[in-house]
Amino acid sequence: YEVTWSASAAEKGGYDHFMLKEIHEQPKAISDTLTGRISEDGTKVVFDEVQFPAGFVKDIDRIHILACGTSWHAGMVGKHAIEKLTRIPVDCEIASEYRYRDPIVSKNTLMVVITQSGETADTLAALRQAKEQGTRVLAITNVVGSSAAREADDVIFTWAGPEISVASTKAYTTQLTALYLFAGWLAQERESVGASEVPAILTALRDMPANAEKVLETAPAIQAFAKEWSSREHAFFIGRGLDYAVSLEGSLKLKEISYMHAEAYAAGELKHGTLALIVEDIPVIALVTQDDLYEKTLSNIQEVKARDAFVLALAWSGDQQIAKSVDQVIHIPKVNPFLAPILAVIPLQLLAYYASVARGNDVDNPRNLAKSVTVE
Ligand code: G6P
Repeated sequence: YEVTWSASAAEKGGYDHFMLKEIHEQPKAISDTLTGRISEDGTKVVFDEVQFPAGFVKDIDRIHILACGTSWHAGMVGKHAIEKLTRIPVDCEIASEYRYRDPIVSKNTLMVVITQSGETADTLAALRQAKEQGTRVLAITNVVGSSAAREADDVIFTWAGPEISVASTKAYTTQLTALYLFAGWLAQERESVGASEVPAILTALRDMPANAEKVLETAPAIQAFAKEWSSREHAFFIGRGLDYAVSLEGSLKLKEISYMHAEAYAAGELKHGTLALIVEDIPVIALVTQDDLYEKTLSNIQEVKARDAFVLALAWSGDQQIAKSVDQVIHIPKVNPFLAPILAVIPLQLLAYYASVARGNDVDNPRNLAKSVTVE
């Protein structure tokens, strides 16, 4: 009799790494984060955990989102979502910058801190600073009983379950889910411009786990691309609007675990510098999910193609046009472009994962990085 598995292999549930397991857990994690937060008739967001003082929800005149790393990237999407649905001005800032710059706050400012672990030192410092000033703080966190959960005035938990891999995946997609719900809830409670869009957003969110499942089917194509391109030293991610926010996260993933130099660029900003780095055969990953920015992004793709870059596009299924302008296309199921980030990030996570594996790196424990940065 021979034991052919180890305890750690068993924990990985048949996957080679925690990261791959966690990428595949996203449909369930998104579904768990939605559970109990949509009214039975599907038209309203239910957030019993948010208990603002009377009148505050309507009085909020500014929101500051603070976070680090991947959580900060989720905040960038949150800013788009909240501003679009509520027209409340939102700043999304890196916690280590915010805490040292004497930000302008008033009694009608809401601070939202996003932190998977609930223990990141800079994020907690920003939270504590806000509380000292009397600013109301809402935490979006994955860890029940964490410092952020205990110290914030209100807490929205992401129900991603334990995330072991240093590179964050399911925590990010559940943070996005929570932020879309929160944006919808604010719009509904304030009766703002976006309130009428909430039922459709909730329908799309309920379909998200099934769509995320379909996106996971792009894995073999991504793996083949990653194998072929992983010996490169540089990669660029471009996009506009929400696609730019997701590009930031895609490039961070690649850096963290493949150790390739990766840069995310707002596509329209390319010609202000980065275009000088675009040379023959350099991989450029272009995100093209924002329908109203489609033509604009396409013209940026043509700019990099004119310098003979190799362009991999991430586009909606049904988009036949894009293939004519790029070298390879990864199609994802079409959803409301407002919610695209939840799906668009998945192929980018897979790309980083397979590039890291191809380079022989320690995927779950990348060099120099820690899961939770509890000291400054
Ligand atoms: C570290 C982790 C990242 C994470 C960041 C913020 O850098 O490696 O994956 O995004 O901390 O962590 P938090 O727990 O506050 O979301």
